[in-house]
Amino acid sequence: MSQNLQLAITAFGGPETLKLQHTSVPTPTENQVLVKVAFAGVNPIDAKTRAGLGWGAEKIKDSLPWVPGFDAAGTVVLDSGVFNAGDRVVGRIVEGGGYGQHLLADVSALTRIPDAVSFQQAACLPVAGLTALQALELANVESGDRVLILAGSGGVGHIGIQLAKAKGATVFASVSSVNTAFVSSLGATALDYTESALEKQLRDVDVLIDLMGGDVGEAALACVKNGGRVVTVPTITAPRIIEAAEAKGISAQGMLVQPNTLQLDALLASIETKTLHIEITKTYPLEQGVQAHVDIQTGRTRGKILLEMPE
Ligand SMILES: NC(=O)c1ccc[n+]([C@@H]2O[C@H](COP(=O)([O-])OP(=O)(O)OC[C@H]3O[C@@H](n4cnc5c(N)ncnc54)[C@H](OP(=O)(O)O)[C@@H]3O)[C@@H](O)[C@H]2O)c1
Repeated sequence: MSQNLQLAITAFGGPETLKLQHTSVPTPTENQVLVKVAFAGVNPIDAKTRAGLGWGAEKIKDSLPWVPGFDAAGTVVLDSGVFNAGDRVVGRIVEGGGYGQHLLADVSALTRIPDAVSFQQAACLPVAGLTALQALELANVESGDRVLILAGSGGVGHIGIQLAKAKGATVFASVSSVNTAFVSSLGATALDYTESALEKQLRDVDVLIDLMGGDVGEAALACVKNGGRVVTVPTITAPRIIEAAEAKGISAQGMLVQPNTLQLDALLASIETKTLHIEITKTYPLEQGVQAHVDIQTGRTRGKILLEMPE
């Protein structure tokens, strides 16, 4: 069968530790599907794991070289019980492997992509889209809530704004000045964090979706009303934010995004009906994945970054 070019983390360190490798195309077992990947999402967790940080690095430390990529969209290669060769599919691949031409996915991880949705749009959803959707559900966001989303212009944030608006919430999003028009176009009131501290611009929100964590997340607790709800998404600083929130009488929770094909279907349907816009800021060929990691680890990219697999 054809070649299988992959981009692997060869050691914990900088982006240059990502190296191309040639392997053979894997053979699926009974509950697996062989997918020819078209596009893979690049997420901050990929760069943190590569740098040796957090739960991701702990999990793979004895498995290097390891191929990252939790988002993959592509075509089924061989008929399986559920999918047929040629089906367009997307999935949240918990084992990683999206940064490669072929991967084996558990059959339960995949769902079909509607014709009106591109591989590129679909590849943005498994981590960022599910995180946005699950964070809003965890915070129990309802119509009429005032919701502040930190990093509203990022991969998770720009989807979160639109989903929160669809629930009938009034949405505020923190951004730098280059992104104010962007988040406004998605329906949020932009708060430029470079102009003044957020708590000087906004008080008494019902819900904070903290996509920054650390000092920024902790400072934003001052915007939340007494009895408000916080979901803090970056896992590394979650214990600190939860403790600081509870000291202020605010209920806070961390989260880890879970695979969920029904929720993926709902997000795909929203793209199909044009009620969800996916912003793709840059697409790199797999061979330039090092640059994709240089970009994502700036923490300043708008929307999503993708890797395109070679034919
Ligand atoms: N727990 C989980 O399961 C889970 C799942 C997904 C993501 N995450 C984590 O959640 C975080 C967000 O993920 P993501 O994919 O959305 O990240 P991302 O796409 O890299 O976010 C980039 C955005 O952050 C904004 N930003 C940077 N500094 C800011 C500041 N001080 N205040 C407000 N916005 C700022 C930037 O906008 P400006 O340039 O305008 O500043 C940029 O648009 C990451 O830490 C990621 O690892 C966790």
